Formats: sequence, C-alpha cells, structure tokens
Amino acid sequence: MADQYAQTREDNRPAGSPAIRWEEPPEGPVVVLLDQTRLPAEEVELVCTDAPALVEAIRSLAVRGAPLLGIAGAYGVALAAARGFEVDDAAAALAGARPTAVNLSVGVRRAQSAYRAALARTGDPRQAAPAALAAARQLHQEDARASARMAEHGLALLDELLPGGGHRVLTHCNTGSLVSGGEGTAFAVALAAHRAGRLRRLWVDETRPLFQGARLTAYEAARNDLAYTLLTDNAAGSLFAAGEVDAVLVGADRIAADGSVANKVGTYPLAVLARYHHVPFVVVAPVTTVDLDTPDAGSIEVEQRPGYEVTELIAPQMPATGAGSGIPVAPLGTQAYNPAFDVTPAELVTAIVTEEGALSPVTGKGLAELCARSRQAASAT
Ligand code: MRU
Repeated sequence: MADQYAQTREDNRPAGSPAIRWEEPPEGPVVVLLDQTRLPAEEVELVCTDAPALVEAIRSLAVRGAPLLGIAGAYGVALAAARGFEVDDAAAALAGARPTAVNLSVGVRRAQSAYRAALARTGDPRQAAPAALAAARQLHQEDARASARMAEHGLALLDELLPGGGHRVLTHCNTGSLVSGGEGTAFAVALAAHRAGRLRRLWVDETRPLFQGARLTAYEAARNDLAYTLLTDNAAGSLFAAGEVDAVLVGADRIAADGSVANKVGTYPLAVLARYHHVPFVVVAPVTTVDLDTPDAGSIEVEQRPGYEVTELIAPQMPATGAGSGIPVAPLGTQAYNPAFDVTPAELVTAIVTEEGALSPVTGKGLAELCARSRQAASAT
C-alpha cells in the first residue's frame, strides 16, 4: 500500500515551495508534493519514494489539476526508473490513476518514451533512467513557460473583450500555481490582470464537493493580494443576473478535437449562464490539454468519484481516508451522483487561450491548426 512509501513532512517545509519537486537525498530520489488535501489549514509535504505512492497521491487529489498531473506522471516514471522498478508497469498505473485530464497520460508517455529510447541506445536501465528525469524536468519547464505565455495572451484578450479595465472575473475550481510549473492557466490570467491594475474582483466559486475554489483558489488569491470574493456554486446565477460578472475564466482537463471542453463539474452551467447573460466565457489551457485523438464530447471519459465526497463534508484538517471519515450531511445510505467533471460544447466557449495564442471562434479546424503550429514550434527548438 502507498502508505508504506509516502511519508508526510510537516516541520521543515521551506516557505513558498512549489507544488511538486524532485529531490535526491542520500536515501535515494523522491518526488515531493505539497499535499493539496491539507490546504489551506496546513502546508504539509508528501514525500513519495515510488510510483504507487504517487498514484495514491493522484487519486486522493493530494496532487491535482491537469498540467500538474502531467508533470507528476512524468516524474513518477522517472522515479520508477531511478529506483530500478519496472518502468512500463509504473507508467501504466500512473496513466490510469485518473481518466479525464489528458495531460496525465501525455506526461507519462513523454518520460516513458525518453526512457525507452535511452534503453534501446544503451541497453542499460541504470543509464536510461536519467533520460526519463530529463524529460520530466523539460516538461516542468515548458509548462512554466506556457503558463507565462497564456497569461500574456489571456490578458490581451480580456482587454480586447472588455476595453476600459476594471474586470470582474468569475472562476471555478483551482487553476493557479498549485496546478502548474508556473502560475497556472486561468488564474495566471487573473493574476496578470491584477498586476496590470485591471482586475476589479475575482469571484471564486467554492467548487463542490471538494472545495478546490474555497480551499485552494482563495488561498492563492489571498497570497497574491487579489481582491476576491468566495461564493457558493449556486450563487453564480444571481451574480450574473445582478450584472456583476464581466468574464468567466476557467481551465480545462481535456479539450476534444471538436472544441468540447471537459473541466471541473459546474463549469458547463457557468457557460450556459454566461451565454444567457452575454458574458464572455474563456477557457485557458496549454496545448498539452488539447487531445485531437478524442473526437468529441461523448468520447471524453468523465471520472466518477465516490458518493461519500457528496454525502459527507471532508475538512482539510481531517483528510479523507474513505467513507465515514467526514461529517455526514445526508442520511446514512444515501446514493450520490458525483461526476468530477462536465463537458461544455464549443459553441458556448468564446475563446480558448493557449500558449500559442487565443482561438476564437472555437472550431475543430482552428484547434488542429493550433496544434500543428505548436508541433512546428517545438521541432524548431
Ligand atoms: O479534480 P481536480 O481538482 O484535479 O480538477 C481540476 C480542474 O478541473 C481544473 O480546472 C483543471 O485541471 C484545469 S487546471 C489548469
């Protein structure tokens, strides 16, 4: 079991340490995670010494958010290789830990391919292991660069859509530095608007059932001195009706070839509200989130989470260890519908902002061109 391999480190976390990092203490390499299930109550690190510990951290959402899942998957493969475990088994377990965010399998594949190529060249697993680590580190750095570019393009788009500044932006789930090698996706755009003096308010959906908005986005907004207000997910409608929302900015877990966007459950109702109230609905995601192999909305596998996440309140001070570990908010035995994501059709999306620029209108052809441009840019470097 993962508990054998993952230890928590509560006492010596350096201030402002990243969501994920690779360390090489004398006992052997480890992947160190900021345990997001414990935020904002405590900043506790989780030290993973093998891939099963990382798989458990992914399932429990200690590490989460599409771009960071990709980075974690790549480091997980590097960890298996460096510790002499069976790399293909580790890669399969990591890639299958959560189904919706395509970044996870993309990150795993990248480190696995680098490892396989080095193994074919050298014939020696020990010599091949550094190639997997180099691939993970490269993905990590690329994600940081993509994040900065998305923030630039996203801010330019906001200024174009909403001339005059004073933006009041609504966001859902958590899309900041906790999910990224850089400052995130949608949150990075809000942060850029704040730094440019053009963000009047960030409306933060609490994001039921696991409160990624309340626990994590509010935490990141506070640390960055943003003017932010938390609301329950179902208060969004009246906020739109009151004319208090100028734009919606969200991330994505997978963007299908036809432009359908899978993101945290509750995103689709926001897109419907935005359309009704003539408010731009903008998705911010790196090109690694676009999956041209998934043709449309119906082909996206939406993760179903356990019912106890809905029937019980899980506080960060009391990390969930399964049914019965939270405070019951429904009668014992109540069944719950708990999809982790929903899918928004392209026609409701005003623009998709990637590191390659903003795509509007969102069409399959436009997405394919964007991905081709990104591939060309990558092969030129
Ligand atoms: O279940 P989670 O917390 O991993 O879901 C995360 C989201 O839905 C984010 O909005 C998405 O990954 C985009 S993050 C840049």
